[in-house]
This record gives sequence, C-alpha cells and structure tokens, in this order.
Amino acid sequence: MRTPLVAGNWKMHGRLDMARELAARIAAGAPHGVELALCPPYPYLGVLQQTLTGTPVALGAQNLAEQAEGAFTGEVAGEMLAEFGCRYVLVGHSERRSLYGETDAVVATKFQRAQAAGLVPVLCLGESQAEREAGQTDSVVGRQLDAVLETAGVAAFHQAVIAYEPVWAIGTGLTASPEQAQAVHAFIRQRLARQDAGVAAATRVLYGGSVKADNAASLLAEPDIDGGLIGGASLDADSFLAICQVASL
Ligand code: PGA
Repeated sequence: MRTPLVAGNWKMHGRLDMARELAARIAAGAPHGVELALCPPYPYLGVLQQTLTGTPVALGAQNLAEQAEGAFTGEVAGEMLAEFGCRYVLVGHSERRSLYGETDAVVATKFQRAQAAGLVPVLCLGESQAEREAGQTDSVVGRQLDAVLETAGVAAFHQAVIAYEPVWAIGTGLTASPEQAQAVHAFIRQRLARQDAGVAAATRVLYGGSVKADNAASLLAEPDIDGGLIGGASLDADSFLAICQVASL
C-alpha cells in the first residue's frame, strides 16, 4: 500500500508573509491518510521549519547543488537543506532541465547527493510537447529514468519518489488525461520492475502538470498515480487542501 503524497512546488513565488500564512493554513487543514510536503524558495526554509515542526506537513526544497560543499557561489548543499528540516528535495524539475541546462547526468548526480545528505529526492521526469507529438514519450521518460538507475541503482528508489510531469502540462492549464498519465506511470513502474519488482510496487509516482481541485479526483483514481506535485494550485491554501482531501480518500 502506497500512502499518497501531495507536494507543493511554490517555485519563485510569494513573499515571506505569504509563505508563513500559507504554510500555517495548510498545516491546520491537513487531512489524514495523505502525506503533505511544501517546497518553498530557499530563504523561507528556516521560517517554515518553525511553522511546520510538529505538524503533519513535511518540508522540501526545489533544488540542491551537485556538490557537497566548496567554492560554488550561489549554490546550496543538500546537507544545508537537511539542517533546515527538509525531508524532500525536487531533482530534475523540467524548469531546471530546460532553463538551467541540467542534463540527465547532472540530475543523476543530484539524486545521489540528495540521498547522501539524508534527503528523499523527488525525481522529476517528463517529455516536451514536440517529443510527445513525435511519439517519443516513453523513450524520453525511459532515458531520464535510466540515467538515475544506472548511477544510483534500483535499490536507491527505496528512498525516493518519482514525479511524472509532462512539460506541456506544466503551468499551461493543459492536463494530461487520466489515461495518458496512467499509461506513463505504468511504463515507469514497469521499468523499475524489470530490475526489482518490490521497489516497483512500493515507489510512489506522483503526477504533476496543472493539477487543480477539479481534475485531481480523476487523475488520482488511476492505479499508478500515487499523489501530485502541485505548482500553481499550491499557492492557494484552499485549492491545495482540496487536492490533498481528494488524495486522502
Ligand atoms: P503546475 O506546476 O501545477 O503549475 O502545472 C507543476 C510543477 O511544475 O511542479
């Protein structure tokens, strides 16, 4: 039985007051039967650690450095995130891949670096619109997953989460249909099962890409969709909690 996880990816939105209030409202309304996580911008981690300690809501970060420490101006190490109470860290979000040039190899290194710091990586995978139209969805998602499987090994997924986020659905209002999402989630699980059936059965695979309160139920009803990675709708406490409520059922 996989406990669903709903994680909010705030991206570079909001200000400190909003972060405080949003986290407090989400913590106060968190339903049972689902795990919640919030991934705010780095500077708000300290304050949110205080807000969320003792609540059912975990803290996560949106990125981490490839290296453990050193002369890397502007970077933040996984160990630092762990010090601020982070349990999760997003790795390989499509915005990191497309806007900041993170290759499969970089993502694989970050995945391992996260685990070395005691964090649970949320490995983001997904194809672009052009790739989907060219019939390359499985080959792209498979390649992104294999890069991590080859370096970290399948056993590493005992302490990891996967998020399938079709790039064309992120922030666009276009959602993959439940059938489209389920097909890719099943593909991901089969890919894991080729190496370890137990890991495949236990690993949570979240869906992300324009998830809202009104489309969450049909997506989360699919057998291989174990929760959501929520961008825009995580900036509104009522919307985010409505999605968490659906996931808890
Ligand atoms: P969205 O973002 O829900 O706004 O589409 C999802 C994400 O990028 O994680």
